[in-house]
Amino acid sequence: MPDTEGPTASPHSPSILVTGATGNLGREIVARLAVRGARVRCLTRERGAARPGAEWVAGDLTDPGAVRRALVGIDAVFVIWPLLTSAPAHALIAELAAAAPRVVYLSSSAVDDEAAEQSDPIVRVHAEMEALLHDAGLRPVVLRSDTLASNARGWASQVRAGDVVSGPDMAPTAVVDERDVADAAVAVLLDDRGRLGAGPHVLTGPEVLGRAGQVARLGAALGRDLRFVALAPGLARSRMLADGRPEPLVEALVAASERRPASRRVTDHVERLAGRPAGTFARWALEHTAEFR
Ligand SMILES: NC(=O)c1ccc[n+]([C@@H]2O[C@H](COP(=O)([O-])OP(=O)(O)OC[C@H]3O[C@@H](n4cnc5c(N)ncnc54)[C@H](OP(=O)(O)O)[C@@H]3O)[C@@H](O)[C@H]2O)c1
Repeated sequence: MPDTEGPTASPHSPSILVTGATGNLGREIVARLAVRGARVRCLTRERGAARPGAEWVAGDLTDPGAVRRALVGIDAVFVIWPLLTSAPAHALIAELAAAAPRVVYLSSSAVDDEAAEQSDPIVRVHAEMEALLHDAGLRPVVLRSDTLASNARGWASQVRAGDVVSGPDMAPTAVVDERDVADAAVAVLLDDRGRLGAGPHVLTGPEVLGRAGQVARLGAALGRDLRFVALAPGLARSRMLADGRPEPLVEALVAASERRPASRRVTDHVERLAGRPAGTFARWALEHTAEFR
């Protein structure tokens, strides 16, 4: 790799490939790996996304050539799969199997090992990705994340415009701070002896919250009386389509809102991996007020 790594990287530092590196979670992982002295390579479709502290390579997760180039010399890979079907993942899996790095896969806490069928398309894709990685003999470390607190960024324009946040409702779960998921991911990415185990590690926050609870806590952080208004599925669908969201994504979100069950599950897996307890959504809100003003 060129000498664009973090300040303490050395030729003996592990080389880590991060997919989804420009995203809410990926950005946090890249920053932490650089501080820890890892050599970091990031895969992005965006030209001009490069930032200091890592090597940036252009490519799509569905492009086997790009994935092959990105994997050269890599010890461990943080894999996300943001697509709504697992079918195009076969090329990625084949490249991973050929290069044989350690694989950390970011899945969903909504995956239900006991269910004959997963609740909705997004969860189904994560369950299929876990199975594909296992079946390819990659022995992935699986992180099953709860809803990321950073999803609340999607409400910023509504919060700036008024006191009501509306959208499809989602069953309550233990929303997790993406910085906690990043700490857990970094711990397993750097765990070259596998001491932390393959999981699935179920990463949750400490408190079960619905949309209304999240919006109320965001309001408290901003010193405002914000409230959430749940839209019926038909109205939520037409609003999201009018906002320009792709139809398959809109259908997947509506299905999640209608079918994903509530979860009261709160785990200590962030603490087990990261060495400190997970933070609350209220703390996340207090630390991100500037993004909502
Ligand atoms: N958000 C949640 O509540 C949640 C919960 C559990 C699991 N997850 C998983 O976590 C992942 C990351 O979440 P996030 O909130 O950080 O996502 P995000 O902010 O929406 O970022 C999405 C990332 O995916 C990358 N990407 C999208 N399509 C790609 C493609 N075809 N090839 C290569 N890269 C592609 C984007 O990179 P470029 O645009 O730079 O190419 C971007 O870095 C999700 O995709 C999901 O699978 C999320």
